[in-house]
Amino acid sequence: MSFLNNHKKVERNATLLLVLSLGVVSIGGIVEIAPLFYLDNTIEKVEGMRPYTPLELAGRNIYVREGCYTCHSQMIRPLRDEVERYGHYSLAVESIYDHPFQWGSKRTGPDLARVGARYSDEWHVDHLKDPRSVVPESIMPGYGFLLETPLKPEQSRDMLVANMRVGVPYTTEMIESAVSDFKVQVDPDGDWEEMVERYPKAQVRNFDGQEGLTEMDALVAYLQMLGTLVDFSTFQADASR
Ligand code: HEC
Repeated sequence: MSFLNNHKKVERNATLLLVLSLGVVSIGGIVEIAPLFYLDNTIEKVEGMRPYTPLELAGRNIYVREGCYTCHSQMIRPLRDEVERYGHYSLAVESIYDHPFQWGSKRTGPDLARVGARYSDEWHVDHLKDPRSVVPESIMPGYGFLLETPLKPEQSRDMLVANMRVGVPYTTEMIESAVSDFKVQVDPDGDWEEMVERYPKAQVRNFDGQEGLTEMDALVAYLQMLGTLVDFSTFQADASR
């Protein structure tokens, strides 16, 4: 019965009880969570997903810098009202190249996970410049300065390398051609075929409708590709196969 007497000690000493409980809880936590980091099938692979093009990545960085995620989520829940409004619920794999992810915790504005190709580039430029000009009741702030802020392609190589270090599978070829891929995505007259081979479904055009590369080009390029990589007309979740 000496074991039970020891238990009395633990129950009467709050600090000891706390330390031992934390020990038990963390063992349980590790046993449950650790295997997920090593399981290949934690995230179902889906055809069509690829890392961001250098221009899209620059747009994503502007999105994060401007705090768009404080009002917009990028995760459609598998609930009927959300799926009817925004489209197919978000898959884990659709965030696989996002560092950090943009799921968000607040929706002052609508979810943007599938906003790509829903509006024209002109609509996005007008809306970002002055949201009230296209949606009179909007409370979104304007971002007109993006049209005047030049973009520097030289940074794109470092951006790709940074993402590669945290696990995005950018190849040496992608990194070496980052700067030219960046420029060619806004130049429909250029040699963009190789870039599109590296990044299937990449959209090539002048996104902000004016001469010169601006932050608006990158942000609109990013918005226009959101949710467009996976083809949901052919996609079937593993569980329903
Ligand atoms: C203060 C909150 C707020 C911030 C910050 C904000 N938005 Fe919005 N956004 C809204 C609201 C509200 C709407 C809905 C009304 C409208 O369309 O303007 C909206 C709508 C949108 C839409 C149209 C979505 C749709 O499906 O109709 C896009 C695209 C968008 N925002 C992009 C952005 C981007 C990019 C940024 C960052 C540069 C940003 N927003 C920052 C509140 C915000």
